[in-house]
Amino acid sequence: MAKPAVQYACTECGYAAGRWFGKCPGCNAFGSLVEEAPAAPGGVGARPLLKLVEVTAEEAERIPTGVPELDRVLGGGLVPASLVLVGGEPGVGKSTLLLTALGAIAAGGRRALLVTGEESPAQVKLRAARLGGTEGVEILAETELDAVCATLEQERPDVCVIDSVQTLYAQDLGSAPGSVAQVREAAGRLLRVAKEFGVATILVGHVTKDGAVAGPRVLEHLVDCVLQFEGDRYHAHRVLRAQKNRFGSTNELGVFEMTGAGLVGVPDPSELFGKTLPGEVGAAVACALEGTRPILLEVQALVAPTDLAMPRRVGTGVDPKRLAMIVAVLTRHAGIALRSADVFVNVAGGLRIEEPGADLAIALAIASAARGTAVREGLVAFGEIGLTGRLRVAAQSERRLEECAKLGVAAVVAPAGTPSRSKIALVEAETLRAAVGSVLAARVGKNPRK
Ligand SMILES: Nc1ncnc2c1ncn2[C@@H]1O[C@H](COP(=O)(O)OP(=O)(O)OP(=O)(O)O)[C@@H](O)[C@H]1O
Ligand SMILES: [Mg+2]
Repeated sequence: MAKPAVQYACTECGYAAGRWFGKCPGCNAFGSLVEEAPAAPGGVGARPLLKLVEVTAEEAERIPTGVPELDRVLGGGLVPASLVLVGGEPGVGKSTLLLTALGAIAAGGRRALLVTGEESPAQVKLRAARLGGTEGVEILAETELDAVCATLEQERPDVCVIDSVQTLYAQDLGSAPGSVAQVREAAGRLLRVAKEFGVATILVGHVTKDGAVAGPRVLEHLVDCVLQFEGDRYHAHRVLRAQKNRFGSTNELGVFEMTGAGLVGVPDPSELFGKTLPGEVGAAVACALEGTRPILLEVQALVAPTDLAMPRRVGTGVDPKRLAMIVAVLTRHAGIALRSADVFVNVAGGLRIEEPGADLAIALAIASAARGTAVREGLVAFGEIGLTGRLRVAAQSERRLEECAKLGVAAVVAPAGTPSRSKIALVEAETLRAAVGSVLAARVGKNPRK
């Protein structure tokens, strides 16, 4: 038999070609193409078709993971027989989170299996002892793909965690564990086992920046759900988001705190992140929407004089383009001089704001820093800023106001026309200039730092 031709696949976008390229024609990444063995061709006969109406589908009952924040991000629990990919940087706490979940699932009377290729059972045991409540979890230390699949087929646990997908290898593929071919093969076979034998499978995938190891990107199309676990080692807080979810919203967010006894869910992040010190200059509280969840976040800004021809606009947790736009609107339409100043913006707790409803709070924090006047105490802001300097009503204002009311916020600054049925005091502003004026000038309370 002729030797099958060698294929090259991109680790970033999955582009495949018959020859090697230095630069991927699919996504323009450099050096991302790696060799992979092609699938063996085989002929199959036609299959009978079904009308959709003939398909029986009972709404499968979701498996609660015992970690409410994880359930929320999954859209209300794990769907049986689904394949979930959890990605995250090394050490962020993927194994910790999933071991906690497996423990709770096992305690709930279901079979939960941990396939560990990265750590020895003894190491897992140490972590389990620290976390507690994981007695019922079954463990398999194996990296051979066939053995893992055969075990799953025979044992049929309800939930299985593969930690990590990069350590699995199929002997019939020549490439090294962690290569695109191996990772894709592993995910493909596990997908089949998951669907056929009803095993809800969670794959742990490492995110690497240099792409030397096949990142989970090649799997994103294959799996039902992609969760991203974020956070940095300098913050105790971790955020779990869904990037893709075939069974729920992708906008949900789970917040955790890493403690000595494992990851603890933070059910009310607003309480934690939505506070400023009274009288602090350069801080404002935003009510941002994360999926269906409004959350109060402190935004801090620093405006420092600079001699640079192109002053810096640095944002941590905010989109750089939005930041540049907000700075431009502040300069042009609100009379805040920022042309010869560096502007730094930071969102509390290592969180990220992606929606335009937080614009107003970012602008107020910058204006406060530039003027050296604190934002009025106990004030929360939300609203979108237009390029003309006019404020636009943010989406789902009612929900945001409800969250503010729940946390006992004194007043809310929002664009004129924001619908409000709650009793909360609403400071309405037509333009950014008006908002800055009413919030910074009418300061109440003393600055304790003076
Ligand atoms: N005793 C402890 N007290 C507090 N935090 C701890 C303790 N032990 C471990 N951690 C935290 O757990 C993190 C490691 O968690 P975990 O092993 O679950 O991460 P991971 O994402 O699975 O990492 P890897 O990619 O290496 O598998 C550490 O970075 C640390 O922050
Ligand atoms: Mg791990």
